[in-house]
Amino acid sequence: MSLQKKIAPSLMCADFLRLGEELKVLESCGIEYLHVDVMDGVFVPNYTLGTDFVKKVRAATSIPLDLHLMISDPEGKPDWFDFGEGDYVSVHVEACRHLQRVLASIRARGAKAMVALNPATPLSVLDEVLPDVDGVLVMTVNPGFAGQKLIPQTLDKIRRLRALLDQRGYGHVEIECDGNVSFDNARLMSDAGANIFVGGTSSVYHRDASTEENINKLRIAIQ
Ligand code: DX5
Ligand code: ZN
Repeated sequence: MSLQKKIAPSLMCADFLRLGEELKVLESCGIEYLHVDVMDGVFVPNYTLGTDFVKKVRAATSIPLDLHLMISDPEGKPDWFDFGEGDYVSVHVEACRHLQRVLASIRARGAKAMVALNPATPLSVLDEVLPDVDGVLVMTVNPGFAGQKLIPQTLDKIRRLRALLDQRGYGHVEIECDGNVSFDNARLMSDAGANIFVGGTSSVYHRDASTEENINKLRIAIQ
């Protein structure tokens, strides 16, 4: 099964002072998802976007959301956010006591449930949850900050994950990669089997060109 290749610009890297215009640009470029990083200062050493930001973005555009919850003990917390059918929500396996419960609560709202894995987390944690997920978010840097360097072994991790999903009959489960998705790394990630690409300072918001130019370049890299 060949999954559609999709781009999710990371809004934490956008210019907040002109976010409305930025969303129009992303719409005109046919962007598939808006990646929204939620950090709680506990699970990761930083704070970023939150519930009110999501509400405003939801009201301003019809581009589906890709909420990345980097928060401790996420059980019950997806209910704080405005999302629904067609959106993606990922929770970190390292942060959950009852992973299936939180994944089911996301699916119950019509959204796609994803499990996020830190770079050091082995794929074996997925063994018992494959029927419960629509996608796996593979962190290719340790979460918390934009502008970090790729952890190289995560490329092989994506390759092994794609093989594992296909072998076990979960070819429909998507693989998203997040962290230093540069134009060059995106090509390698795509070849390894990822199909959703989070574009931050390394690509969509690379300062050398406009958002449109960067998106066009990233599209070419992932095809
Ligand atoms: C954290 C974020 C970052 C970031 C990606 O989950 O999603 O990984 O925005 O952008 P760069 O390209 O700066 O790593
Ligand atoms: Zn993210």
